[in-house]
Amino acid sequence: MKRINGKIIARKILAKDIFLISIELEEEFGNFGPGNFIMLGINDFENILPRPFSIYHAENKNIRLIIKTVGSVTGKLLKCSLPYEVSVLGPLGNSFPLIKGNNLIISGGIGIVPLFDLVNRINVECFFAGFRTKEEIFLVENINKISKIYLSTDDGSFGHKGFITDYLEDYLIKNRDRDFNIFACGPHPFLKKLWDIGKRLGVSSIFASFETYMACGFGVCLGCTVETPKGFVKVCKDGPVFNLNDIFGE
Ligand SMILES: Cc1cc2nc3c(=O)[nH]c(=O)nc-3n(C[C@H](O)[C@H](O)[C@H](O)COP(=O)(O)OP(=O)(O)OC[C@H]3O[C@@H](n4cnc5c(N)ncnc54)[C@H](O)[C@@H]3O)c2cc1C
Ligand code: FES
Repeated sequence: MKRINGKIIARKILAKDIFLISIELEEEFGNFGPGNFIMLGINDFENILPRPFSIYHAENKNIRLIIKTVGSVTGKLLKCSLPYEVSVLGPLGNSFPLIKGNNLIISGGIGIVPLFDLVNRINVECFFAGFRTKEEIFLVENINKISKIYLSTDDGSFGHKGFITDYLEDYLIKNRDRDFNIFACGPHPFLKKLWDIGKRLGVSSIFASFETYMACGFGVCLGCTVETPKGFVKVCKDGPVFNLNDIFGE
């Protein structure tokens, strides 16, 4: 883990409220695992804490992030004039296990970002991607080149209509005699639903990346602590990837 200064040198809109930024760093970033994240510091914003973002791509002195506009920092990153000075602390956290088997991936909205690189690193039988509407879809064309993809929108404006968790459940029911590993990222209720489905249908392991508020990103501030049946965990250091059994199990 190291802090490197850099500049946002390019920005591209990918979908409604979603954009990609390319950061040119002063040093090489190094290796990262799928699910690792960085804390992005904004130098010209007073008293603002860095924000966590998953690593979409990193190579040599370049790192790319995909960001959804939700508030002050993400709003600033969308509008700032380029080049724009930032700092990058990382890679942080753990990453998804690179395991063999019948692997399925499922994402909700922006949760597709930490899962993207996993497709290049493990055998994936099918990638289930859910979005709210057609306007919010991104990255699926890139995934389609590597893996079979199953797409849904909540309103049916593109792909299958409804929640992607329901389509994954159908798939698991049709293949009940087989055992699966599931890799996931999405909002908390989405992960809870996934856990309920997996438990009901006897899925061996569900690994999921969690989002919480984070102030430091490396285990010092306790800002990201969540209570689990086995005690308190720090999402930034013990995660962000957890076996759902350790979070929702008894
Ligand atoms: C490990 C990790 C990886 C992440 N990867 C990405 C990514 O690749 N792309 C991306 O767009 N976002 C990602 N996020 C979420 C991102 O960190 C937040 O959206 C960002 O910090 C919001 O900053 P802001 O100043 O724009 O929002 P703020 O002005 O601070 O808040 C705006 C709104 O967003 C909500 N919010 C802010 N942060 C979080 C959070 N961490 N969890 C839930 N709700 C939040 C607030 O409650 C508020 O309603 C990740 C978070 C974590 C923990
Ligand atoms: S963000 Fe500081 S301990 Fe996790």
